[in-house]
Amino acid sequence: MTRWTTSGEAATEEFGRRVGRELLPDGVLLLSGELGAGKTVLVKGVAAALGIARDEVQSPTFTLMRSHQGPGGTLLHVDLYRLGPEDVPELGLEEALYGPGVKVVEWAERLPFEVAGARKLIVRRTGDTTREIEEQA
Ligand SMILES: Nc1ncnc2c1ncn2[C@@H]1O[C@H](COP(=O)(O)OP(=O)(O)OP(=O)(O)O)[C@@H](O)[C@H]1O
Ligand SMILES: [Mg+2]
Repeated sequence: MTRWTTSGEAATEEFGRRVGRELLPDGVLLLSGELGAGKTVLVKGVAAALGIARDEVQSPTFTLMRSHQGPGGTLLHVDLYRLGPEDVPELGLEEALYGPGVKVVEWAERLPFEVAGARKLIVRRTGDTTREIEEQA
């Protein structure tokens, strides 16, 4: 088991950038962790690895999937927070996660299927500005 600690939002974003480089060209990252843990912050770092502006990555309101194009490739950002389990098969989500580009899923614990070869990270709040990131086997 591997664990990292970050101090401050910028450190989590930088961590995400390093993970993003490892995900190129078409890896999948499954993120879990509570509200406000720092998942979206980490995704902003992944976006940076593809040359996508951090501000393009947001916590979607009603959008479950959003695609961003950068000079380094495509980022598919999925957030399943507002999803009922019965909605997932209709999204074409499984196909999308095996498609081209880097794919990141927030609230991945709500995915009703396994994604072969995906990297899994759990983000936990350990203090006001500290977070623990744990790699899941
Ligand atoms: N070390 C840190 N790493 C990441 N975020 C931090 C850190 N310290 C403080 N924060 C703050 O925690 C919040 C994380 O919010 P973020 O939107 O990334 O959470 P989330 O896990 O995506 O939540 P949600 O489930 O609502 O999508 C931000 O307000 C950020 O500034
Ligand atoms: Mg989020």
